[in-house]
Amino acid sequence: MNIIFLGAPGAGKGTQAEKVSEKLGIPTISTGNIIREALKNGTEMGLKAKEFIEAGKLVPDEVVIGIIKERLSADDCNNGFILDGFPRTIPQAEALDTMGIVIDKVIDIEVADEAIANRMGGRRVCAACGASYHLEYKKPEVEGVCNLCKGELVQRKDDAPETVLERLKIYHNETEPLKDYYSKTGKLVIVEGQEEVADTTALTFKALED
Ligand code: AP5
Repeated sequence: MNIIFLGAPGAGKGTQAEKVSEKLGIPTISTGNIIREALKNGTEMGLKAKEFIEAGKLVPDEVVIGIIKERLSADDCNNGFILDGFPRTIPQAEALDTMGIVIDKVIDIEVADEAIANRMGGRRVCAACGASYHLEYKKPEVEGVCNLCKGELVQRKDDAPETVLERLKIYHNETEPLKDYYSKTGKLVIVEGQEEVADTTALTFKALED
């Protein structure tokens, strides 16, 4: 099964993508995580993306499309995959079509902008392995320390309140039109994000069966 998760920044796409990945045993591909890793490692692509990602802007289409083309050619995608954060623009969606990729389901997680600002403020990520936590909803076992690798938990630069507003603005202008794009293919299912992660997951699993 090939699945796309759409939704505003902080709507919970990454959280739900991980649940579906565990359930179906297929990989999650997060362009955001791939870019952050490149940034951390100081690769050429990371350097190109740095100013965009830290300002909350979209990285140019050709860079992200290149990342996806390479990643989808890996063997672990043969039985299906989950795209978390790609496509984010119409040209990116068209690039998937041009590659001949058939998408089975597009799940759009809907959360109001006001709730998103609160969630992003509380998010902390591991500086070493990238695992994601929340000060209120997903606390680590030891404050400030990653459960998985014991790395330090930090706030993402693009989770600063003014950058979150910029990311939301870009989402509404550039990414939201994808709902219409995929609704025309009959593959779009809308999931209303709930206050509890488990409640959203139940709706997400149901959306996969519909
Ligand atoms: P990316 O990492 O994809 O960021 P994003 O879309 O802004 O998504 P987030 O990871 O911030 O949020 P999410 O929806 O996955 O929510 P999460 O589950 O973490 O991209 C970052 C940047 O990379 C972009 O700004 C851009 O520069 C660049 N980029 C990436 N892809 C690109 C592309 N295709 N084209 C161009 N540029 C690209 O949840 C958020 C928080 O809420 C967490 O703390 C979580 O614990 C909490 N939470 C989740 N669900 C719930 C719930 N139900 N109740 C309460 N809290 C919850």
